[in-house]
Amino acid sequence: MSAVQSWDPANYARHARFVSDLGSPVVELLAPQPAERILDLGCGDGALTKKLVDLGCEVVAVDSSAPQIEAARKLGLDARVMSAEALPFREEFDAVFSNAVLHWITRADPMIAAVYRSLKPGGRFVAECGGYGCVHKIRMALVQALDRRGMDGEARVPWYFPTPGDYATRLERVGFRVDSIALIPRLTPLPGDIIGWLETFAQNFLDGLHGLARQEYLEEVRAALEPQLRESTGTWVADYVRLRFAATKAPPLA
Ligand code: BEZ
Repeated sequence: MSAVQSWDPANYARHARFVSDLGSPVVELLAPQPAERILDLGCGDGALTKKLVDLGCEVVAVDSSAPQIEAARKLGLDARVMSAEALPFREEFDAVFSNAVLHWITRADPMIAAVYRSLKPGGRFVAECGGYGCVHKIRMALVQALDRRGMDGEARVPWYFPTPGDYATRLERVGFRVDSIALIPRLTPLPGDIIGWLETFAQNFLDGLHGLARQEYLEEVRAALEPQLRESTGTWVADYVRLRFAATKAPPLA
């Protein structure tokens, strides 16, 4: 996770509620059963965690953001501040679930190993995150506008958007069986202006830009994206691509 990126629950609710609202397909893939013990990895403000609890699951929710965990606790959830790479659990969970978080974890292997350790034999790792090509147009506009300022835009990219082959290899290397994995292009209407999205999800690019310089940068990125991502109705539509997968921790050989 980028050191610059931070999450404010109120801002998240305003500009990013669609992230949990669009989480139904990965919840369906998880197929949670009542009384199952589930780890929600990167729970954010707990909106999807609450759905799992309401289905009768026993859920531990973790996130690296203290403000988001505070918001999740207000929903009555068992929510804990924790790094995904340093999960302390050993064979405790029937499933590890994650929505819209794994692309922030650029060192994926230690996280995948920690998930593997956390699962009971036969447990499932079911997740959705940004996949290869996700927000390509937004990324290019952000990078190029920094390059024009003599900064290394590409070095600021905080996301890891893997191909299915790349992620499947990482999962199999630690012992998972990959049951399904796919890239799903998903044009995503935004609840407001693209600048709200940039200020919520692209803080790494804004680091060190203050006042007028920041405003001019954001306006330049917006102007580059408007012909590509703004519909005639005025709605902004982000060029999301999802990576969705289900994997199983192989039970020990008899
Ligand atoms: C997401 O939350 O899915 C996301 C965040 C940043 C860039 C792309 C996708």
